[in-house]
Amino acid sequence: MPEGYKQMIEAHDLLRKFYHHLLVNTTEGQQALEYLLQRGLTEAVIEKFQIGYALDSWDFVYKFLVKRGFSEEILEKAGLIIPREKDKSYFDRFRNRVMFPITDHQGNTIAFSGRALGDDEPKYLNSPETPIFNKSAILYNFHKARSHIRKKEQVVIFEGFADCISAVRAGVEHSVATMGTALTDQHVQILKRNTDQILLCYDSDSAGLTAAYRASNMLIEQGFQVKVALMPDNLDPDDYIKKYGEKSFNSEVIGASLTYMAFQMHYLRRGKNLNNEGDRIAYIEEVLKRISRLSNAVERDLYLRQLSSEFSLSLDALEDQARQTFITER
Ligand code: CTP
Ligand code: MN
Ligand code: MN
Ligand code: MN
Ligand code: MN
Repeated sequence: MPEGYKQMIEAHDLLRKFYHHLLVNTTEGQQALEYLLQRGLTEAVIEKFQIGYALDSWDFVYKFLVKRGFSEEILEKAGLIIPREKDKSYFDRFRNRVMFPITDHQGNTIAFSGRALGDDEPKYLNSPETPIFNKSAILYNFHKARSHIRKKEQVVIFEGFADCISAVRAGVEHSVATMGTALTDQHVQILKRNTDQILLCYDSDSAGLTAAYRASNMLIEQGFQVKVALMPDNLDPDDYIKKYGEKSFNSEVIGASLTYMAFQMHYLRRGKNLNNEGDRIAYIEEVLKRISRLSNAVERDLYLRQLSSEFSLSLDALEDQARQTFITER
């Protein structure tokens, strides 16, 4: 256990309660509360995810925690206060933001992410890497989702807080979020102990699609069964739920998610003109490469037949090519 671990957790837990109190019970928090309600959150959800508000002050947290006996050294190490360069004073990291507490997989608060109320940059300000917070090993909401992941034998992965929270509200309780970072090996190891089926539900903008493409290939290589959910019009899951409702999200997005291969085909087609011979051959080669990596023979057969019929190619030729691709790739 890192030095000062217990105090750092205690400071975070205390601050989580305090931020939450400011949001729901004070006039200072009213504007932030209105922002959240206007985004469609309810008081029950704010309670469940312990969402809070950091005051528009340079040193409120600093004073609040020092008064309660926490040392400056511990608070700085925990990422909650930042030293000024010119003197020995400190200022609060989070000011005038909606605060999302981040818990470790046992449920201890170990970090925060603060969202700007308007268009301020950055949109989300996160705790830095600290002795208790390693972003690449933490999945938002994993602590609460774990039992649902095991029951469902599946995990749904989102990019962001709002997406994960809206999905849980829509009944998709086996939801976690990577908080904007790429899925790491450490995330994958944690998930592997709980399920081998992963549904990626990233934003359907260009960045989200590329992230889903990368993550899906990494996960397939790790032996997971992978599906990918897509939404229309560049929407993200939270936007989709707001626009089309929870029922539609369950049936048209989660329920209609694509298999790994169907998503690869969808992705590889983007920006290509399959009437053009060069594009067509490049596309077929890319798809064959992926088919050759599939461990399930029935699936391989299915997609080879699909390619064969779509492009009027002989199944024999495609099978040969897939076999060769497989050999040269090893
Ligand atoms: N993110 C971050 N820092 C930023 C922007 C994003 O850490 N400056 C992380 C956040 O965890 C965010 C996730 O990346 O939830 C996805 O980013 P994005 O899709 O841009 O944000 P949304 O989650 O859609 O945010 P919102 O709905 O609040 O606008
Ligand atoms: Mn409360
Ligand atoms: Mn995004
Ligand atoms: Mn988004
Ligand atoms: Mn969003």
